[in-house]
Amino acid sequence: MITNRRHLFSLAAVSAGAAMMPAHASAQTASSVVPEKSPRVKLNNGAQMPLLGIGTFNVPTFQAADTVSFALRNGYRLVDTATNYGNEKEVGEGIARSGVPRNELFITTKLWIEDFGEEAALRGLDASLKKLGLRYIDLYLLHWPVPTDFEKTIAAYKALEAAQADGRIRALGISNFHPEHRGALMKEAKVAPAVNQIEFHPYLVQTDVQAESARHDIVTEAWSPIGGSFTNRPKDPAKPIRVLEDAAVIGLARKYRKTPAQIVLRWHTQRGRVAIPKSVHYERILSNIDLFDFEMTGAELSMIDGLNRGERGGPDPKTFDVAAFRRIVEHRKQNPL
Ligand SMILES: NC(=O)c1ccc[n+]([C@@H]2O[C@H](COP(=O)([O-])OP(=O)(O)OC[C@H]3O[C@@H](n4cnc5c(N)ncnc54)[C@H](OP(=O)(O)O)[C@@H]3O)[C@@H](O)[C@H]2O)c1
Repeated sequence: MITNRRHLFSLAAVSAGAAMMPAHASAQTASSVVPEKSPRVKLNNGAQMPLLGIGTFNVPTFQAADTVSFALRNGYRLVDTATNYGNEKEVGEGIARSGVPRNELFITTKLWIEDFGEEAALRGLDASLKKLGLRYIDLYLLHWPVPTDFEKTIAAYKALEAAQADGRIRALGISNFHPEHRGALMKEAKVAPAVNQIEFHPYLVQTDVQAESARHDIVTEAWSPIGGSFTNRPKDPAKPIRVLEDAAVIGLARKYRKTPAQIVLRWHTQRGRVAIPKSVHYERILSNIDLFDFEMTGAELSMIDGLNRGERGGPDPKTFDVAAFRRIVEHRKQNPL
């Protein structure tokens, strides 16, 4: 029943959206690149970052170039990838194939925690540049803090400050940092992070982290913005958690004649957060950025804030490190999807 309702919502929005195209419409030429659709937010280094971009975690290598190229040709300019996703090379191919001029693009990638430390960080950066086929990265993030070996986290960040000075990185940022991690880093670092990318969706509303970041001129970016952290790999398949099936979200989708995903993504962007929904489906890639033609009221935004359950789909940054990551990988091997 709920699935049917979701299906209808998707179809309604697809048929109503002016920019909607059939799913097979990926074969556009570079000359038919659609102008940028997302407004931008100014970072503390002066760069302008799109508020809405495309995520690429779990995008398989065989689909990554096509997904990225399709998104960029259809109004996206922000792409989020990471060394740990194993698809930087294909993401780079998609960027090159899109035909969008480099100076319009905003490309983010992340240094993996096993590459922390001064020399390893610089090697990691150069490897990412090579795989992506780029001369510079618009936003380079430390993927996670490593609280059990924070010296290496700091050493990596300081090495990247030097790389920023020589132009290989435009903006330097962090990901999954709690205020105490940011505070400890800033005792040693010179460059304030421009962005903190954290898990953020209606069931994990980290308003306190966003507010603390804002006080330090750091923009918050939401990963798993529509709750993908629950659906990528459900902790308990018998009790699936689906943010997009929340009754409050569906009610707003009905009111505004939008999809539940558009409602949640608009909530992020109206709250000043960058959001990077991932999809490998053309209709969803199109509809996920078709949301700057309506605004919810303050009360409605607060209602979505109020859905918070403090529930993480991903790991807790307080306890994440290489050993914890290896345990997750091992668990996945033992429990394939
Ligand atoms: N910094 C970090 O530690 C970290 C961690 C995780 C993720 N990230 C970044 O954040 C990005 C987004 O997070 P995420 O991929 O975990 O989750 P997400 O974007 O919240 O959700 C992705 C899931 O939602 C589905 N979906 C996309 N659009 C939809 C729509 N309109 N209606 C219904 N379902 C829709 C996708 O399926 P289909 O693909 O089948 O359409 C996919 O299963 C990642 O791709 C990655 O770039 C960063």
